[in-house]
Amino acid sequence: QWTPDAFVETTIAALQEKLGNDKVVLALSGGVDSSVAAILLHKAIGKNLHCIFVDNGLLRKDEYEAVLEQYKHLGLNIKGVDAKDRFLSQLAGVKDPELKRKAIGRVFIEVFDDEAHLVQDVKWLAQGTIYPDVIESVSVKGPSATIKSHHNVGGLPDFMKLQVVEPLNTLFKDEVRRVGRSLGLEDFIIGRHPFPGPGLAIRILGEVTADKVAILQEADAIYINNLKEAGLYDKVWQAGAIFLPVQSVGVMGDERTYENVICLRAVESVDGMTADWCHLPYNILAKISNEIINKVKGINRVVYDISSKPPATIEWE
Ligand code: XMP
Repeated sequence: QWTPDAFVETTIAALQEKLGNDKVVLALSGGVDSSVAAILLHKAIGKNLHCIFVDNGLLRKDEYEAVLEQYKHLGLNIKGVDAKDRFLSQLAGVKDPELKRKAIGRVFIEVFDDEAHLVQDVKWLAQGTIYPDVIESVSVKGPSATIKSHHNVGGLPDFMKLQVVEPLNTLFKDEVRRVGRSLGLEDFIIGRHPFPGPGLAIRILGEVTADKVAILQEADAIYINNLKEAGLYDKVWQAGAIFLPVQSVGVMGDERTYENVICLRAVESVDGMTADWCHLPYNILAKISNEIINKVKGINRVVYDISSKPPATIEWE
């Protein structure tokens, strides 16, 4: 019978056996998967694990600082890299979702590769790939059906010549969380909603600009904080705000406004493969909508997404 404690014990022993005294690099994303992978590897090989946490400028509000702090607190050998401008400049003028993912994947590999080269004699690349990532990236391929290329799977450039170690690639998300708890990871990391690698770039429909990122970060923070205050955050599998490239007329005092729309998305799911929209209480939605419209400059309308997957997807891009 599978238990998280037994998984931790056998995986740490297997990692020690496999990696010996080799150095390993790992890109931390702030998410559950890469964090659990990092802690497992840290327990197995200590300082030989070199973690790199890239600020792509597409994270949630204040996320980079908070998460970096948390990782340091956990004792990880970690380096934070501010690459906000590199990502944003490569996204300028790019509208197509897959091209955005490709641009982000490309810059990420460049930044990560620069950093990995600074670690002498590194032999391995560790990834927090979990079982559904493996399945989806295989099954989804096909001429007409490249639904979404998950850039964090198998994205290893030849020139890095590193062997890949993926300690979580047999686990589902709920198992990863159980393993994380068994490793003593706090809810701040374990309990967080899934967040896509390309981040807010795929929640800003169309072209991404620094201004739109800033607006979406504010709206998203209001949304998420309200879910937490109402005790709903842990009941929802994934939630986030989406910046729609639509302007609509509104009225503020005596003035006519013509501003953008924010869409709120919240889903229930087990593994992200299928999902139902959450029936959030109207009073909470009302409070979030008021707060966003009153506090976030540039937004005069908030809508709620009531589509399930399939046929919709969780993200809009
Ligand atoms: P969809 O939108 O395909 O999302 O229903 C299913 C789950 O996958 C996440 N997602 C991504 N994660 N890179 C990622 O790392 C991506 O390009 C990507 N696209 C979607 C999404 O947030 C949801 O949890």
